Amino acid sequence: MSASPRWANLLVLAGIVVFFGALVWDDPLFDTAAVAPQPGAPPGLPPMYVPPDNPPTAAAAELGRHLFYDPRLSVNGTIACASCHRQELAFTDGRRLSPGATGELTTRNAMSLANVGYNGVFTWADNRLTRLEEQALVPLLGEHPLEMGLAGNEAAALARLAADERYPDLFRAAYGEDSISFDNVVRALATFQRGLVSFATPYDRYRAGERDALSPVALRGQALFFSDRLNCFRCHGGANFRFTPGHRNDEDDTSVAYHNTGLYNVGGAGDYPARDQGLYVVTGEPADRGKFKAPTLRNIAVTAPYMHDGSIATLRDVLAHYARGGRLVEAGEDAGDGRLNPLKSELVTGFELTEAELEAVLAFLHSLTDEAFLAEERFSDPLRDLSSAAAGDDTRGDAGEHQADAEHGDIVADGHLDWVAREGLAAQE
Ligand code: HEC
Ligand code: HEC
Repeated sequence: MSASPRWANLLVLAGIVVFFGALVWDDPLFDTAAVAPQPGAPPGLPPMYVPPDNPPTAAAAELGRHLFYDPRLSVNGTIACASCHRQELAFTDGRRLSPGATGELTTRNAMSLANVGYNGVFTWADNRLTRLEEQALVPLLGEHPLEMGLAGNEAAALARLAADERYPDLFRAAYGEDSISFDNVVRALATFQRGLVSFATPYDRYRAGERDALSPVALRGQALFFSDRLNCFRCHGGANFRFTPGHRNDEDDTSVAYHNTGLYNVGGAGDYPARDQGLYVVTGEPADRGKFKAPTLRNIAVTAPYMHDGSIATLRDVLAHYARGGRLVEAGEDAGDGRLNPLKSELVTGFELTEAELEAVLAFLHSLTDEAFLAEERFSDPLRDLSSAAAGDDTRGDAGEHQADAEHGDIVADGHLDWVAREGLAAQE
């Protein structure tokens, strides 16, 4: 291997060291599991929660980055975390539902991972998942739906990693000798995700004092967003546009995190479609039917389609749903008037909105996009650099570096595909 890619890697690593160096509190708080907000984070944002047994280091983040993009972590080598969480879409995938390793679809819409480390609970509606370390087991091992299908196949996956020329060094740097273990895979993935911090938006620049960072139209939209008429901020509040009063915030108090917004009213008595009744699936409480987490609205302009089931295509249609005070599904098995859902949050009241006001709210929502985050090198596929450097070809654009299947939109770097071909593995669709 020539010297230049190693240099490039060192530079990236050095950048990450600086990044996490700045992140870690220089006091005992670190031991009680907190890291300071990222530089650029809004003042007053509570520290990110980090479990004491998984301190963030640059080496762990770099290992986690490799694993996040690596389909070796799926049973048949077809799916990586990044297949459903694509950086340029704020780590969503642009689909309503996403195919896992065997082609089976997820039951829910892939969520953005921007600022995910600040979350107190994970997924659309599971108040038991309070650590990223636990959450990662869902896609890795879950069988209903099957996403990566590693349950019972962990040893084979670890053997694949061990046989790769990069991983022994990456694991050693992160966790010491003989550290290629499933636990460490999970810890590294969590550490990488805690680094996915996104606060460089026009909105944040405006808040920091740059008065012309938001257009007059976006400012009108901001006022509407924070108004008693629209109520958006009551559920999408705080620095992350979801409820963010403190780290681990919404873990115990589900009333602030989960709401029925009247998307459905199947049968008229409050039911959502039987395939997904939200928090009720976990708690068994009839009042929790249709309750889902209010997700972050950061980068919302690039994360369509919307809602837990991806059933709303555009932000304009999202606003129409709220303006009506709940969605009317006119026909089919999901038919019903969500506005009349007896379990609907009292904050979803419906409101009148002129076309100009609607445009203003849209402009405000667009000001929440962090372009730098969507292109940030540290969060990108590490194999991309290696494969283009190895090919001695710096001119290839994104399209050339990725084999993107237009229909499935999967991101699989060339190097990964080579491996799939060598092992003779194919998607079992
Ligand atoms: C097949 C598509 C798919 C794959 C592969 C996948 N995810 Fe996801 N991810 C989803 C979906 C769908 C959800 C929402 C799940 C739910 O609500 O039940 C989700 C939710 C999440 C969340 C919760 C975010 C939040 O704000 O609560 C995290 C974190 C996450 N995924 C990380 C990962 C990691 C790490 C991997 C790889 C180990 C991964 N995902 C692989 C589709 C996928
Ligand atoms: C009662 C609390 C509540 C209020 C008020 C509210 N939302 Fe939401 N919002 C939610 C919940 C919960 C979801 C997810 C619902 C689901 O998927 O079933 C959501 C989803 C969304 C989504 C889709 C997010 C995604 O990642 O798919 C957008 C966009 C959104 N809301 C914008 C707004 C705007 C704009 C307003 C004001 C007009 C608003 N919300 C008012 C709770 C609320």
